Amino acid sequence: MSEIVIVRDEVEAGALVANHIATMVQAAERFVLGLATGSSPLAVYRALAELVAVGLDLAHLRCFALDEYVGLADGHPESYREVLRREVSTPLGLPADRVHTPDGSLSGVQSAGERYEAAIVDAGGIDLQLLGIGSDGHIGFNEPGSSLASLTRVKTLAQQTRRDNARFFASLDEVPIHCVTQGIGTILRSRHLVLLAFGSGKARAVAAAVEGPVTSSLPASAIQLHPRVTVVVDEAAAAELAHIEYYRHTQAMKPAWQGL
Ligand code: GLP
Repeated sequence: MSEIVIVRDEVEAGALVANHIATMVQAAERFVLGLATGSSPLAVYRALAELVAVGLDLAHLRCFALDEYVGLADGHPESYREVLRREVSTPLGLPADRVHTPDGSLSGVQSAGERYEAAIVDAGGIDLQLLGIGSDGHIGFNEPGSSLASLTRVKTLAQQTRRDNARFFASLDEVPIHCVTQGIGTILRSRHLVLLAFGSGKARAVAAAVEGPVTSSLPASAIQLHPRVTVVVDEAAAAELAHIEYYRHTQAMKPAWQGL
């Protein structure tokens, strides 16, 4: 079973997850964090930045993003490399070379998947992968229909995803058509998955991911195949979970020695 943690709001979620990451980073000689873009993990990054401001040392931290658009010009403000520079590297004081994104350049994209997989292995694998969830149940940019065993590769974005993301660009036409994304198989290799979802718009996808059948039609349902998953949701995103009373009971009875 995935562990379900129901929180008041994103701020509480951010503090909970950031404190866990901080504890793990301090205890380890190296720690590899998988980053997600989108609004859901922002509170975690803000809470981590607050911990850095009061002395958290991230010298042993390396980060790998889930995905990147294909074909945006170097330095394009909406490339995930730039987004993560603004939201993660700069506020956390991480040198840019410790935050990896797949190579979405037109010249490098053909071998980007293989090189990214190799870089993750070289780093020792991802210890904790942060995940958001699309309203259609996508994780990373693994759209419905993605192989549950897939590795990092080029994907075509769903039109709905392009429309959802058009708000970051001047027009829909400027939203890239392709991306490079960690595969579902890549994500499942991480040692711990932490999926964050907030608001009623995510309720159906969260319920299907946690309790529905495991199916490529809802890529996030693959988390059920992972031995260690924590799903952090607010009440609105938890609203359609059938076994919510059991999850509340589990949360209330959680032994003190169990971390996140
Ligand atoms: C994009 C990202 C996903 C993210 C999703 C939801 O498609 N590639 O990683 O989970 O958006 O974003 P948000 O958290 O803003 O709802």
